[in-house]
Amino acid sequence: MNIDFTQSAESIITDLFKDLELATVERKHPFRFCYLATTEVDNVPAQRTVVLRKVLPSKEMLIYTDYRSSKLQEIKQQPQVSILFYHSEKQLQIRFQAIAKIHHQDTRCLIAWNKLNDHNKKDYQIELPPGSDLPNLEEELSHNPSFDSNFFSMISLNPINIDVLQLSRMGHKRLVGQLENGEWIARRVVP
Ligand SMILES: Cc1cc2nc3c(=O)[nH]c(=O)nc-3n(C[C@H](O)[C@H](O)[C@H](O)COP(=O)(O)O)c2cc1C
Repeated sequence: MNIDFTQSAESIITDLFKDLELATVERKHPFRFCYLATTEVDNVPAQRTVVLRKVLPSKEMLIYTDYRSSKLQEIKQQPQVSILFYHSEKQLQIRFQAIAKIHHQDTRCLIAWNKLNDHNKKDYQIELPPGSDLPNLEEELSHNPSFDSNFFSMISLNPINIDVLQLSRMGHKRLVGQLENGEWIARRVVP
């Protein structure tokens, strides 16, 4: 169902966050995957697909990643990032600018790590860092269980602003807003 734009902006955004939360538990939810954009050196943008793992009541969104991945180096240099979600059935796009924070070997990470199954843990126990050259195409990756949670990390994304676009045959609608002291201040704009 399309967003009801007769509601207040606050309640539209609250409902969107409920949908994002749902995506962290429903494997087929279109918001489960989002596109995280960072800034590489020389100000070149870099995007990649990631899984939305958790949405906290504070609106913070969590992503898991390998501590050795390029995105973390990019976030260390420029923590301001962009995240994009698209729900094809609803023809709904949500774009955030957010401040990214890296969590590594802290309590939050260890709690999340302990909830991962062994298969998922293996993704963070590959010997070589992500992006390393492999001598041949058939090369099997070797895992090292003794790495334990050493390379497991989380990115938390604190939204600064939101841009919601609802496509509709009845007329496209768009809402933009900023998060100020925990409250969304939003307005309708031309799509
Ligand atoms: C469907 C899908 C889901 C993905 N989920 C994640 C994820 O949750 N975390 C992650 O670090 N990489 C994930 N990846 C891999 C990234 O898109 C990316 O290739 C990898 O993290 C390396 O990115 P970087 O070199 O820019 O850091 C996913 C890829 C796909 C296709």
